Amino acid sequence: MADQHLSGVERILAPDAIVVSKTDTKGRITYANLTFLEIAGYTEKEVLGRPHNIVRHPDMPRTVFKLLWDTIEQRQEIFAYVINRAKNGDHYWVFAHVTPTFDAAGTITSFHSSRRCPQRKAVETVKSVYRELRDEEARHASPKDAVAAGIALLTNKFIGAGGSYEDLVFSL
Ligand SMILES: Cc1cc2nc3c(=O)[nH]c(=O)nc-3n(C[C@H](O)[C@H](O)[C@H](O)COP(=O)(O)O)c2cc1C
Repeated sequence: MADQHLSGVERILAPDAIVVSKTDTKGRITYANLTFLEIAGYTEKEVLGRPHNIVRHPDMPRTVFKLLWDTIEQRQEIFAYVINRAKNGDHYWVFAHVTPTFDAAGTITSFHSSRRCPQRKAVETVKSVYRELRDEEARHASPKDAVAAGIALLTNKFIGAGGSYEDLVFSL
């Protein structure tokens, strides 16, 4: 990403707002609703065809995106807390629901995400979990090792053996 400037200013989604986007199977944006464009500060022209990491915020742990992609590619839905970066460097938290879309043969044809304003209390917890995950990831040189260590920390410290990221999400 060319411009990674962060303003430190948080944008808060309206309680009834739903931020929607769709991607192709590679994660390139094929649809963004007006609410998405408004909160992210982009025009439709600027986002269509672009990778969804256009709104990636550096506070997001790599581990969470690995879980997201593994889950949707395994044909499951996922709920996740995500901090995104607007075009001008502002940030906004969302509670996202991401799903695959299938054709009649059951092949994945695209992905869909709808997001709402998260509970403030949950965001505060998620912030500290994500901070620890990023610190752990930063101790490993290779992205693969970083994600493995992130998943181990998430499981051992925040979820418990046999649990999933979803258990954590719905416990907040
Ligand atoms: C439907 C869909 C919606 C996504 N929404 C976001 C999003 O809002 N913010 C984000 O940072 N990544 C989102 N992603 C994940 C990105 O594709 C990407 O994995 C992530 O930004 C990490 O990028 P990086 O691997 O370049 O660090 C979404 C992916 C899909 C399939």
